[in-house]
Amino acid sequence: MHVSIVGSGYVGTTVAAAFADAGHRVTAIDIDPAVVEGLNAGESPIEEPGVGALIAEYGGEELIATTEFGRAAGSELTLVAVPTPTGPDGAIDASYVASAVESLDAVVDDEHVIAIKSTVVPDALRTEIAPLVDGPTLATNPEFLREGTALEDFRNPHKLVFGADESAERAYDLLAELYAPIRRATEAEPAVIRTGRDAAMLIKYANNAFLASKISLINDIGNIAKQHGIDAYEIADAIGTDPRISDQFLRSGVGYGGSCFPKDIKSIINSATEQGYEPLMLEATTELNDRQPERLLELFDQYVDPEGEQVAVLGLAFKPGTDDTRNSRAIPVIEGLDARGADVVGYDPVATLDGHDIEHADTAAEALAGAHGALVVTDWDEFAALDEEFDRMAEPVVVDGRRIVERREGITYEGLTW
Ligand code: UDX
Repeated sequence: MHVSIVGSGYVGTTVAAAFADAGHRVTAIDIDPAVVEGLNAGESPIEEPGVGALIAEYGGEELIATTEFGRAAGSELTLVAVPTPTGPDGAIDASYVASAVESLDAVVDDEHVIAIKSTVVPDALRTEIAPLVDGPTLATNPEFLREGTALEDFRNPHKLVFGADESAERAYDLLAELYAPIRRATEAEPAVIRTGRDAAMLIKYANNAFLASKISLINDIGNIAKQHGIDAYEIADAIGTDPRISDQFLRSGVGYGGSCFPKDIKSIINSATEQGYEPLMLEATTELNDRQPERLLELFDQYVDPEGEQVAVLGLAFKPGTDDTRNSRAIPVIEGLDARGADVVGYDPVATLDGHDIEHADTAAEALAGAHGALVVTDWDEFAALDEEFDRMAEPVVVDGRRIVERREGITYEGLTW
């Protein structure tokens, strides 16, 4: 099959690489000439395990990149995977999707299927995107992969969601053909959900809303556990044995970050509120998540007055295994320390945080040496092994937001929910 993919971000590039490897011909369309040139030379624009090797193998051959939307005309189906940023009120900016869809509509024939992979609230899809399509079929195909394990997740999906209203059978058939080699190669057969165009998008929001709320709920319970001096992870292990709860996404701490959860929850709240419904649970999910970094700082305040002192922040990425700092919990933690007049020295094995008042250390040991306390924000494995490094601190106070540090003896150790 010949498929086009608009957008070479972490979703678009991963999907393009995986489909090329699965035997499809792939046209990757991106407005950035440097990205296009790189892809054709076999260089991946993103860092994801396994993706670089596939781009090196297929880039410029089975996977051809271009800045010209006209090249999509040669394919039967185009996936749109461009960003949908949000404003401060949570409203999504669908203009990149709109512009891609408009450009596609002008060049493809009426048999073509344009499937939106970008996350778009149903109302924006109906009012801002659907009216731009005149002839081809507009479908949706949300993506559930995670950063850091993008290729692995994409190749082993729990579910495939195909959304379409007009010419739905044709859209479902083409999407089924597209994913057929992925389904054949995976061990566990994914659920295939054929539904309406808007419903498919709502499935994506519901999926993220549920997982983010699960984290906020375990954080709520974790804060209660802490009041009683009980380890919330013991509680989580116990309730996680109930298959209705499951043991996943029960790690309490400083909360969720990243490019999806914070943004998607705010967008669906904004969309619902604009249409007259106040989603109370989701509002609480967001608010609780915003409060966890404050709680970490309050715990720290009990031991250290950081004014004019060096304080270490361990972990800047929003989760381990990535250099992505978007909505990282490190940001509010650093802002809180700055407000207290601390000199923040941050360390992360791969990430750097620009635009914030911190110094970057090359090693955890360097960040900790002479520090009046340390706050742990990301659960990088290497933090578990930290030991003597804590002995070189001016005040060995460690406030852990991820339950990753193992050393307890000879330091003042506080866990956020344990
Ligand atoms: C998420 C969804 O998992 C994915 O399905 C969707 O397509 C995009 O959003 P991602 O943002 O890459 O993926 O990361 P994920 O591994 O889900 O973690 C999100 C955040 O939640 C991280 O900050 C992580 O530290 C936090 N988290 C996760 C917890 O605080 N506790 C947990 O138990 C799990």
